[in-house]
Amino acid sequence: IATFNEYLNFHNVYFMFDVFIDAHNYSQLFIKPIKWKIIILLLYKTLKKLTDPKLLNSCVYVLKMLVHMSKAKRVLEIGMFTGYGALSMAEALPENGQIVACELEPYLKEFAQPIFDKSPHGKKITVKTGPAMDTLKELAATGEQFDMVFIDADKHNYINYYKFLLDHNLLRIDGVICVDNTLFKGRVYLKDSADDFGKALRDFNQVVTNDFRVEQVCKFFSQI
Ligand SMILES: C[S@@+](CC[C@H](N)C(=O)[O-])C[C@H]1O[C@@H](n2cnc3c(N)ncnc32)[C@H](O)[C@@H]1O
Repeated sequence: IATFNEYLNFHNVYFMFDVFIDAHNYSQLFIKPIKWKIIILLLYKTLKKLTDPKLLNSCVYVLKMLVHMSKAKRVLEIGMFTGYGALSMAEALPENGQIVACELEPYLKEFAQPIFDKSPHGKKITVKTGPAMDTLKELAATGEQFDMVFIDADKHNYINYYKFLLDHNLLRIDGVICVDNTLFKGRVYLKDSADDFGKALRDFNQVVTNDFRVEQVCKFFSQI
């Protein structure tokens, strides 16, 4: 038998879920079809060969829009995977724009590069393979700076990437850092969560909140 509070929570959850589904369905009506056929090819090849389709989600539209809105010219992506996010962001960059995409696995560069080469935007992307921290050190040593950074790799290193970017001026003043998974399926705020990734992201969120150098916003984007 449910207590009154449980009863209320039960109905709230259903109410929230309905609102969420309705909002999601409604918002899908307003997504424009992807313009470039090459990115469709990339999506198709990724789904066919490599992955769980959940990894490829509507967040790339948000990234592309952020690049456009911030008028970024130089973007750093930490964790490239098959290049779907990189190519989407490249579409929003000006002709002389540049993305440096860090990816641990050389086979993912081999997968993505031929598709980038077919795209009119592919020339804007440079893939650096190996641990991202090594690439960040290399970029800092040569005085590189970026207008926007997208962190989307190994969760345990998010704090290290974030600190390194700011401490070594890899992000220009007034630049933007976007970080994927900061709510991580609720595991960051569920009290009994013993999940390592959840804990790493919880610590990361706290570090950013305590850092007087930045302003932050945490936004939920649906993946269904
Ligand atoms: C979630 S996927 C990235 C998705 C991509 N940002 C997109 O939007 O399409 C994470 C990627 O980070 C890479 N990765 C994990 N650890 C890394 C590291 N230490 N250095 C560089 N890349 C890493 C993984 O190989 C994987 O391809």
